Amino acid sequence: MTKIELMTRFAVAPVFALSLAWSGYTAEAADAGHLPNITILATGGTIAGTGANSTTTVGYTAAKVGVEALIDAVPEIKKVANVKGEQIFQIASESMTNDHWLKLAKRVNTLLAQPDVDGIVITHGTDTLEETAYFLDLTVKSEKPVVMVGAMRPSTAISADGPVNIYNAVVLAGSKEAEGKGVMIAMNDEISAARDVTKTNTSLTSTFRTPELGVIGYMQNNAPHFYRESLRRHTANAEFDVSNLDKLPAVDIVYGYANINPIALNAFIGAGDKGIVYAAVGDGSLGAGIKPDLIEARKKGVVVVRSSRVGNGIVARNGEANDDELDFVVSDTLNPQKARILLMLALTKTDDTKAIQTMYYEY
Ligand code: DGL
Repeated sequence: MTKIELMTRFAVAPVFALSLAWSGYTAEAADAGHLPNITILATGGTIAGTGANSTTTVGYTAAKVGVEALIDAVPEIKKVANVKGEQIFQIASESMTNDHWLKLAKRVNTLLAQPDVDGIVITHGTDTLEETAYFLDLTVKSEKPVVMVGAMRPSTAISADGPVNIYNAVVLAGSKEAEGKGVMIAMNDEISAARDVTKTNTSLTSTFRTPELGVIGYMQNNAPHFYRESLRRHTANAEFDVSNLDKLPAVDIVYGYANINPIALNAFIGAGDKGIVYAAVGDGSLGAGIKPDLIEARKKGVVVVRSSRVGNGIVARNGEANDDELDFVVSDTLNPQKARILLMLALTKTDDTKAIQTMYYEY
């Protein structure tokens, strides 16, 4: 560590200690082992990324820095929790697969079943973070906090956002108030619910938003401040059990647009998909170029879910299509990528469209 860095670190320490004392984390509590036991599962992403130099914020390499280095880069973490790190994957999250999700969910559930684990933090690339978060929101069988965290700037960048995001995620995962809230995302000093949060900007540190429905709280001064929570089923109150699954039903998304071509849909059906999520235009409108093929897919036993590319608002049943007559399902407010996750898990339980529709109204 250079002299400047040492001085900076030294200068910061008393201030940090004061803020810790204010927030109730006293040295006595720390010494008495009252700190929560948090496991950090690292999967890769930008938070573990490295750039050519400190001003590289795009065009860097994701998934390079290991979990121990991530923890060591934020020594303040050890003042607020007893932390253990596991490198479960080391990938850029655009390469996340159903197999990764099943392995991650099983590991999370095994850890949370241990009485000496109070919460889990998962470091993850931001590109598919919302999807992994929602998959875990539906498959984690515990009320203990599970917090996902990423970064929009690599660890080597000036004002990298990873360190403060990880610190906040550990504090959140170790807080009693976070229990029973479902899987949360802690980034940019905000706390978001897995069901409704989405990545809204390709590069800004404020990219994770919950448009219209809003964040559920903030991280400030070493503590979470909650203002709302999801009314939908999640985690311990969810019916999905992946413990004995080693694969998920094939479900794909077809993107809707003017002059749509049904070739992609028919290719998915030909490949044996069990479900299709149609990311329709508007509030789930089915153009003449796709509707006959969706009807044909349903007749072949494929479950068809009408979602919307718009990103916000309700896709209402029997609105833009006669779902009762066509035996389609609507996604309510789930965006296409999350509607796909719920449909995959629903199909592990049933192919009854009435039961599946109920799931879209409950989760
Ligand atoms: N390759 C992207 C990913 O791993 C980088 C984006 C990020 O993590 O912020 O999701």
